[in-house]
Amino acid sequence: MKAIQVTKTGDASVLELAELPTPQPGRGEALVRLKAAGLNFIDIYIRTGRYERPLPFTPGLEASGIVEAVGPDVTEVKVGDRVAYTDQMGSYAEYNLVKASQLIPLPDNVSFEEGAAIPLQGMTAEYLVNEFYHIKKDDYVLIHAAAGGVGRLLVQWCKHLGAIVIGTVSTQDKAQVAKNAGADHVILYTQEDFVAATKKITADKGVDYIIDGVGKSTFTKDLDAARVCGHICLFGSASGPADPFAPNSLQAKSLTLYGGSLFNFILTREELLKRANAVFNGINAGWLTLKIDYKYPLEQAAKAQQMLEERQTTGKIILTI
Ligand SMILES: NC(=O)c1ccc[n+]([C@@H]2O[C@H](COP(=O)([O-])OP(=O)(O)OC[C@H]3O[C@@H](n4cnc5c(N)ncnc54)[C@H](OP(=O)(O)O)[C@@H]3O)[C@@H](O)[C@H]2O)c1
Repeated sequence: MKAIQVTKTGDASVLELAELPTPQPGRGEALVRLKAAGLNFIDIYIRTGRYERPLPFTPGLEASGIVEAVGPDVTEVKVGDRVAYTDQMGSYAEYNLVKASQLIPLPDNVSFEEGAAIPLQGMTAEYLVNEFYHIKKDDYVLIHAAAGGVGRLLVQWCKHLGAIVIGTVSTQDKAQVAKNAGADHVILYTQEDFVAATKKITADKGVDYIIDGVGKSTFTKDLDAARVCGHICLFGSASGPADPFAPNSLQAKSLTLYGGSLFNFILTREELLKRANAVFNGINAGWLTLKIDYKYPLEQAAKAQQMLEERQTTGKIILTI
C-alpha cells in the first residue's frame, strides 16, 4: 500500500511517500480501506518529535473508510461498513488497522470527507463543552484560534448552548470565518491585547470560561482575562507549551484550571459512540456545520501539514486517498 512514512522527526520534508506491506487484521481488529484522512495539529507535535512516537511511523490520527477485512472476534463492524475513527496512528495511508471497538459507524448522510473531519476535532469540541465547566445562557466564553479546526466547531457549540462567544484570531480573513461560525465578538490577538478587549466586552467582569488550544502566547494572559471564580481549560499548545506558573496564583481569583485530552474521554465504546452521536446530532439539527477548506492528495501531505503549521488554514484540512 501507499503510505506516508516518517523515518526521522523534523520539518514537513520528513513526510515521505513509501510503499509498505498492507497489514492483516488480528484478533479484535479491522482493516480499513481509507478514503480520507483528517489533519490535526497533534500531527505536527508528533512529526517534530514534541510528542514522541517510535520511528519509523505513519502519521495521522483520524480517517474514514470502508471495512475491508476483520480479524477473529470482531462483533462491532462487518466487511463493507462505512466507518471513521481516531486515536489510532497511521491514517496517512491507503489502509490502516484499527481496533474494531474504536470504529464509529458513519451515517449514510455523512460523506467520507466529512467523516474524516469529525472524530478528533468534533468529539474534542463536544467534551470541552460538556465535561468541565457547564456553560449557561449568556455566559461569556473565550475561544482562542476561533477560525481553526476545533475553534470553529467550539464557536458553534457554545453558541448553541446560549453563550456570548468571544473568539481570537490572527487575521481579518480568519475573523470573518469566526463571525460566520457565530462568534459575537472577534479579537485580532496579534494586533490587540485580548485581555483589555475582553474586559471591555464583559464590562470589566471577565470571562466565565476560556478554552485555550494555543498555549504559550495566550495562557498567562488567560489568568487575567478570566472572571472571579472563572474557568480555564488548556487543551493544546499550537504556539508552544504554556509557560510555567505558580499554582497558588489561582487563589487570587479562585480560578479553576482544567487540562483536556480527548483520548481520556473515549475510553469505552459507549463513551465513544455517545460523543460521536452528539456530533452527528448537531450536524443533523443544522446548528453544527463542517468546513472542509483544504483537500490534498495523500502525496501532498507535507504541503498540507506545512499550511497548518504556518497558520495559513481555517476549518478542516483533509487528505483524499
Ligand atoms: N487535547 C485535546 O483533546 C485536543 C484535541 C484536538 C486538538 N487539540 C489542540 O487544539 C488546538 C487546535 O487544533 P486544530 O487541529 O484545530 O488546529 P487549528 O486550530 O486548525 O490550527 C492551529 C491554530 O492555532 C493558532 N495559532 C496561534 N499561534 C500559533 C503558532 N505560533 N503557530 C501555529 N498556529 C498558531 C492559529 O490560528 P490563528 O492564526 O487564528 O492564531 C492556527 O490556525 C491545537 O493546539 C491542538 O493540539 C487538542
